[in-house]
Amino acid sequence: MYNAKAVITGIIVFTVLCTAPFWVGLAGKDYKSTGIVLPKDEKKCIESVEFMRKDHMRLLNEWRDEALRGENRVYTAEDGKKWSISLQNTCLKCHSNYKEFCDKCHTANSVYPYCWTCHILPGESK
Ligand code: HEC
Ligand code: HEC
Ligand code: HEC
Repeated sequence: MYNAKAVITGIIVFTVLCTAPFWVGLAGKDYKSTGIVLPKDEKKCIESVEFMRKDHMRLLNEWRDEALRGENRVYTAEDGKKWSISLQNTCLKCHSNYKEFCDKCHTANSVYPYCWTCHILPGESK
């Protein structure tokens, strides 16, 4: 009989080892390393910076669904503060330096959101 426990332990150790570079990369992914520029006049994002880093894309999807399907244009944050649901007038009002913020980190992570064929970026006058 094989020792099932040892086999399972082996598999777990193997998996952790194989994905180690990935975990180390995640833990070590300091935003400073991507050189993004944060808003000068504000100290806090809508939600915690950890949440924003990990979940801003899901938050944006949620916002879109709320605005278009729920016809709700107000988002209440974790801390009770209310925000107007708008990519342009909320997110990009603070993060007005799209190129040095959103874009920089996305390029570093090979992500290319397709939003800007319809939504307007700040500083663009097309
Ligand atoms: C094909 C065009 C199109 C594309 C591409 C698109 N949107 Fe939109 N989006 C719209 C339209 C039209 C509205 C409705 C505008 C309104 O009613 O205020 C909207 C509304 C929204 C809203 C809520 C209202 C607002 O003004 O912000 C969010 C958030 C949003 N989109 C996010 C995104 C994100 C994130 C992406 C990219 C992943 C994206 N959209 C791509 C057309 C588009
Ligand atoms: C009131 C101004 C303000 C608004 C509105 C705002 N942000 Fe932020 N955001 C900030 C500030 C300030 C930080 C840096 C917070 C920190 O370092 O603790 C930040 C951090 C972030 C980060 C993490 C950056 C990093 O350090 O890794 C992301 C991603 C982000 N914001 C995306 C968004 C998106 C998407 C929206 C709209 C849904 C948004 N922000 C709305 C001010 C704002
Ligand atoms: C600190 C890095 C960082 C910053 C800053 C950042 N993003 Fe992102 N963003 C990412 C990563 C990484 C992904 C892909 C994650 C995934 O696929 O789960 C992503 C994905 C997205 C997506 C979904 C794209 C898709 O094709 O699925 C949208 C929309 C988006 N970001 C919008 C923004 C906006 C708007 C800003 C600026 C206000 C911003 N992001 C700032 C790292 C960042």
